[in-house]
Amino acid sequence: MTRIVLFASGSGSNAENIARYFSGNSAISVPLIISNKRDAYVHERARRLGIPSFTFSKAEFDEGSVVIDTLRTYEINFIVLAGFLLKVSQPLLDAYPGRIINIHPALLPKFGGKGMYGDRVHQAVVEAGETESGITIHYIDEHYDEGDIIFQATCEVLPEDTPEEVARKVHALEYAFFPEVIEKVIAKTFV
Ligand code: GRF
Repeated sequence: MTRIVLFASGSGSNAENIARYFSGNSAISVPLIISNKRDAYVHERARRLGIPSFTFSKAEFDEGSVVIDTLRTYEINFIVLAGFLLKVSQPLLDAYPGRIINIHPALLPKFGGKGMYGDRVHQAVVEAGETESGITIHYIDEHYDEGDIIFQATCEVLPEDTPEEVARKVHALEYAFFPEVIEKVIAKTFV
C-alpha cells in the first residue's frame, strides 16, 4: 500500500480531487493532508472527506523534524504538493528522495521560479501574449520548479482570455490529469 500525504496551502480543490480519485483504491490511499496555513480551505475539505489535516509553520517545515515525525506516524511513503507555496526543505528532500512531486500551473521552464504561483502565473502568461499554457507535473529538488519533468498538458490561450479564464482552463487540466499521473509515478516508483 502506498500512503500519500497531500501538501496544500489554499483552497485545496486539487487535494480533494486527488483524495476522491484514490478513495476505495486498494493500492494507494490518502490518509493525511498537511498545510502551512491554519485558515486554508483545504482543512474544511479534509474534514468533510474524513482525512486528518494539520498545519505547520514555515519554521517547522524548514527544520523538518516535526513534519517528518508526523509523516512517519501516518506511514507516509509519497508526498504530493497540490498548490503548496513553501519551498520544500532539505530534511524533507532527504527523507523522501525521488518521492516528492509537484504540479505547476504553467508550461515549465516558462513562468516558474520564486514568486511565480497562483494567479500571478496566469497574469504573466496573459501579459506575455502566450498562445498556450498548461500544467507541468515534476519531481521536486532543492530549486523552485526545476526538478525533472514527468508530464505536461497544454491548453489554448486566446487573445481575449483573462487570467481568470486561463486559470479555469488550467484547473480543468489539473483535475483531469494529476490523479492518474500520480498513480503512474507511484507504479514506477514502487515496483
Ligand atoms: C493550482 O492551480 C496549482 O497548480 C497551483 O495552485 C493552484 C491550487 O489550487 N500551484 P487548489 O488549492 O488545488 O484549488
